Amino acid sequence: MSFSLIGKSIKTSATLKINEKAAILRAKGEPLIHLGGGEPKAKAPIDAIISAISNVNSGETRYTPADGTREMKQAIIRYTDEWYHRKVEPEHVMASGGAKQSIMVALQAILDPQDEVIFPAPYWVSYTEMVKLCGAIPVPVYPEDGTFYPRIQDIEENVTSYTKCIIINSPNNPTGAVYSKEFIADIIDFCERKELYLIMDDIYHRLVFDGKQPINCFEYVKDHSENSRLILVNGVSKAYAMTGYRIGWAVANKKLIEVMTNVQAHQTSGPSVVMQKAAIGAIYGVQSCVESLRLTLENNRNIMMNELNAFDGVNVTKPDGTFYCFADFRHYSKDSTKLAEFLLDKVRVATVPGVEFGLEGYLRLSTCGSVNDITKGIERMKWALDPNSPNELYIGDRKLVRDWV
Ligand SMILES: Cc1ncc(COP(=O)(O)O)c(C=O)c1O
Repeated sequence: MSFSLIGKSIKTSATLKINEKAAILRAKGEPLIHLGGGEPKAKAPIDAIISAISNVNSGETRYTPADGTREMKQAIIRYTDEWYHRKVEPEHVMASGGAKQSIMVALQAILDPQDEVIFPAPYWVSYTEMVKLCGAIPVPVYPEDGTFYPRIQDIEENVTSYTKCIIINSPNNPTGAVYSKEFIADIIDFCERKELYLIMDDIYHRLVFDGKQPINCFEYVKDHSENSRLILVNGVSKAYAMTGYRIGWAVANKKLIEVMTNVQAHQTSGPSVVMQKAAIGAIYGVQSCVESLRLTLENNRNIMMNELNAFDGVNVTKPDGTFYCFADFRHYSKDSTKLAEFLLDKVRVATVPGVEFGLEGYLRLSTCGSVNDITKGIERMKWALDPNSPNELYIGDRKLVRDWV
């Protein structure tokens, strides 16, 4: 059987693979602790549920416009005004089946084969594959100082005549780093001067800790004209815990939104009418659910940090936001895939190998679960990795005996 060159070059999604393995183990009754997840455990906001149900009850089942319903666009306009103090028009907005689709469609609208797309490493697993799907070349940039906080020089040094676009994701998956205002200002200025597209993937922007405020990229934009190459991406998945509802959006100049809408129209048409209603409900609804999620995640982050700081041999940078912690396990293994498999196999703890995010020797640990998941999960990992730990560990009434060194 033959497949396309592009099709063959696309990797299985590491995070979806972990979820599948975890689901199989759970279904078999295994005492799994899932520290690999990328979605909050909270239920959808009640306003989203009521809005979706009233749509279902109405029997409305028609296609929606390819760029989203008028009502959905109004909700996105309102969100952009509230969180970015930026007044945009319906023609500046496109709703999609998740932030992921907005990014994909934006890349398809702007990239030609061989174009290069720069993004700081470690990076979200899908950026490399999305760029490859366009026949273009992903260019991950590793901050020279070895931190998770890129400097403008790191980006500048990697720009070539093929560079078409830069993607910035802050708060960042997998590190939880919130890039500084200075860096955001610099990167916007740089892209405006060099006429590069800039995708701001803001999907985690409201999930920030320690009194930090979400950064508003529009504060630093000088070019507010229809020539602006800034593409702001956001959605309801993370802040409203609505990952499975699949609604995200892009805000950009009118011409680009028109081209993106054409691409989306032939790929998928507009997003589900029911889920747009749900997203509208969430955006206009009571917002305390977001704050409650944020507080839970901040508390979980603190517990995860305490556990990891007491884990000899593990180095970790305190995440500023999101629900991830990207910890350095090189002391135990230079091969993060093998390490993640070992932990799943021996102590039934699911993690995501750092190599999938472009940094070998690290593991991404999620704080989406319960406090018990975090403390017990790290306890099991310690037991498995520390050669000085006792020979036996009980998981419920199951006795594990160390048969490795
Ligand atoms: C950095 C980043 N961007 C975008 C997305 C996709 O969000 P959505 O579920 O809205 O497609 C994710 C999901 O994990 C993500 O981590």
